[in-house]
Amino acid sequence: MANPISGFSKFTKSEKIDWIITNYFLGDFRVRDRLSQYWSTDKELQRLHDEFIENTITNFYLPLGVAPNFKINDKLYAIPMAIEESSVVAAASKSAKYWLERGGFKATVLSTKKDGQVHFLYKGDRSKLKRFFKSAKEELINDCAPITRNMVKRGGGIIQLELIDKTSELDDYYQLHATFDTRDAMGANFINSCLEQFAKSLINRIDNHKDFTDTEKDIQIIMSILSNYVPECLVRAEVSCPVEELTGFDVVNGMDFAKKFIQAIQIAEVEPYRAVTHNKGIMNGIDAVVLATGNDFRAVEAGIHAYAARNGQYSSLSHATVEDGIFRFWMEVPMALGTIGGLTRLHPLVRFALELLGNPSADKLMEIVAVTGLAQNFAAISSLITIGIQQGHMKMHLMNILNEFKATDYEKNYMVEHFKTQTVTHGAVADALDKIRR
Ligand code: MEV
Repeated sequence: MANPISGFSKFTKSEKIDWIITNYFLGDFRVRDRLSQYWSTDKELQRLHDEFIENTITNFYLPLGVAPNFKINDKLYAIPMAIEESSVVAAASKSAKYWLERGGFKATVLSTKKDGQVHFLYKGDRSKLKRFFKSAKEELINDCAPITRNMVKRGGGIIQLELIDKTSELDDYYQLHATFDTRDAMGANFINSCLEQFAKSLINRIDNHKDFTDTEKDIQIIMSILSNYVPECLVRAEVSCPVEELTGFDVVNGMDFAKKFIQAIQIAEVEPYRAVTHNKGIMNGIDAVVLATGNDFRAVEAGIHAYAARNGQYSSLSHATVEDGIFRFWMEVPMALGTIGGLTRLHPLVRFALELLGNPSADKLMEIVAVTGLAQNFAAISSLITIGIQQGHMKMHLMNILNEFKATDYEKNYMVEHFKTQTVTHGAVADALDKIRR
């Protein structure tokens, strides 16, 4: 049983590792080599990574892959994807190539507003508060001028500020609900700074206002924080083609495929158990690009899943129809992304990923990310309704097992052939490998 520790953050990296080894690895100092093999030999680069977070002991690698042949609004992209799950990049690439031959993807940013709230308690006359807000609204916004100046120069800033009475849901609960445009920045720091300023101004201005009694002046700010729910920061991605062109994805008859595809989507629209997995497949594509481009995939995940449940039941994000002989497949998803600030300048691979995409604006990146999600969904559904998902997965699973056993290239080629007709299990691969090695 390890002992509690105080002052851990003050330890050097080496001391932290020693402490972990002593307390959790029975003093086995070989563990140090397991951690240090992932340190960069470039000291500056390592220092950069050490300082991204607190208590860093090593780097945690994820593969960075590229899915080429993505035609989006008539421009060709090779999309960087950081993800640990096998088959995802292959599926995205396959889907990109398929739609490249059918005119490519279309994507449109529908809106780019982000929200944040000051949550507070007020135990007074609500009409007084509403009157005050009406007269003080501009001043509250102006108080933020030192924070918003640069953003306003870039065309963004505070779009709207509202007082919301939530007392019917929770005693004494009100909000200042603000809407922002943060241009190419994800904008979390900007939004939170404005919100904290609104909270301070609210307290000060009410405190100095003659209409309020001492009890009413005792406003309690509970918290000031942006919302990761961004239903008005919305992007649409779509593909379409004549039904008869829907062949080639392990498909013979376009109409049969379209019908089954739409059926699969309709199942995800009405059945939450399926919808979650369906949307997870979309997030395979979305998260991988969000991560590679240094954005906050937890924020994007939270916002998108909330959006998927916006009508009271968790449902499919994507939809499909056939009308007048045209197959259409589309999705609208909310996401707050940035292409400046945050990690975008700091992390060398994020810089690389953004350069690979032609240094997109935040809007363009929203389009690229949404398209990757849609492509991923198309690949997943196409496999599921035709050959099933396991065939592709098992190839990668086989490779992972072979790598675990440090198989040579010769052994890998042999095994790939062998397992074309056999079921891949850990035991079966181990046995087959053992046989050829003997
Ligand atoms: C696996 O990561 C994703 C899928 O389960 C998505 C789906 O079922 O649509 C294949």
